[in-house]
Amino acid sequence: MPTILITGGCGYIGSHTAIELLNENRFDVISIDNLSHSTERTLERIEAITGKRMLNYAIDLRELEATRMVFEAHNDIVGVIHFAALKSVAESVNVPLTYYDNNLGGLINILRCCAEYGVANFIFSSSCSIYGNISQLPVKEDSPVNKVESPYANTKLIGEQIMQDFCRAGKAVSCVSLRYFNPVGAHTSGLNGEVPSNRPNNLVPMITQAAAGLIPRLTVYGGDYPTRDGTCIRDYVHVTDIAIAHIKALDYLMHASQKNLYEVFNLGSGKGVSVLEAIEAFQRVTGQQLPYHIGPRRAGDVQAIYSDCSKARKQLGWTATRSIDDMMASAWKWQQTLLHEQQQLFIEG
Ligand SMILES: NC(=O)c1ccc[n+]([C@@H]2O[C@H](COP(=O)([O-])OP(=O)(O)OC[C@H]3O[C@@H](n4cnc5c(N)ncnc54)[C@H](O)[C@@H]3O)[C@@H](O)[C@H]2O)c1
Repeated sequence: MPTILITGGCGYIGSHTAIELLNENRFDVISIDNLSHSTERTLERIEAITGKRMLNYAIDLRELEATRMVFEAHNDIVGVIHFAALKSVAESVNVPLTYYDNNLGGLINILRCCAEYGVANFIFSSSCSIYGNISQLPVKEDSPVNKVESPYANTKLIGEQIMQDFCRAGKAVSCVSLRYFNPVGAHTSGLNGEVPSNRPNNLVPMITQAAAGLIPRLTVYGGDYPTRDGTCIRDYVHVTDIAIAHIKALDYLMHASQKNLYEVFNLGSGKGVSVLEAIEAFQRVTGQQLPYHIGPRRAGDVQAIYSDCSKARKQLGWTATRSIDDMMASAWKWQQTLLHEQQQLFIEG
């Protein structure tokens, strides 16, 4: 079977994409993940869901020779989905060079390998953060990009420019950049999800941790925005919907008549959900009461952002189908799995 190489396959979105790809049974799936922000435990989780063990090379993409060796060992790679990157906006402000080095160094090496080994189809994880503090809603792919707010967002913007130049140079590699809005939730089985850092600063992990009693209460950053209930509005999209979009994007490139194609697509639900609406959805679907309070605004937060995804619908045949309730229910199920795993570890050791 032809092979798809996923970089960052042990991470949150990469592992969900691996699951959807393996379940389709059209491709072998391998991964390069240096495990800097994940563990091999993810491979067991993927296996528990799909019945298949994904091969992961624990290699840093910045090591060009080691990366080349993976392409040498698999001469049937037909597509690369490039997730591997550092992704904390706040951290990137403190260690910008680490972010530029990792995110751009990795991208350049993997593109180089695609050109050298004749891999024609490349999908890139981009982010709505490249739009900066945008006021024109809903956001379209050709909405004017404002100044980006962080080095992290800049690595995505520069990454897109690198791919554009690379495609223009005619190396017989086509690229699709997928600009995710806010991917949340977990696999519907509850067996795979995001392993949160010790102090998550994204809403859904903070909600599930507060409900599980792992943090004392949830802080809602700002209740005085000029929105319908005073809290920020975001476009949440289920991680499995995001995963499926990657397969649609691969198919799109594989069937494209044009070579050296470069395209960008927004991936969101197209709906704005406020922080209080998200909390309400969580309480409704799980029956859990969530301890929260309204705190001050957080620096750098935009008041509202949501996507127009009509381009992905028309050209990729993709729309997000899972609701905010599905996102919350799966995230809570995954939180139970994490708690259970931690209890087991405690009992065993
Ligand atoms: N999760 C989000 O909310 C979100 C939103 C927009 C865009 N993105 C982008 O999507 C991609 C995947 O995000 P995620 O949430 O799955 O992140 P993640 O941290 O869970 O996964 C990324 C994986 O890449 C690996 N990695 C990092 N640098 C590497 C390197 N140099 N060599 C090899 N492996 C490396 C990490 O170990 C990790 O397993 C990232 O590019 C991220 O910027 C994520």
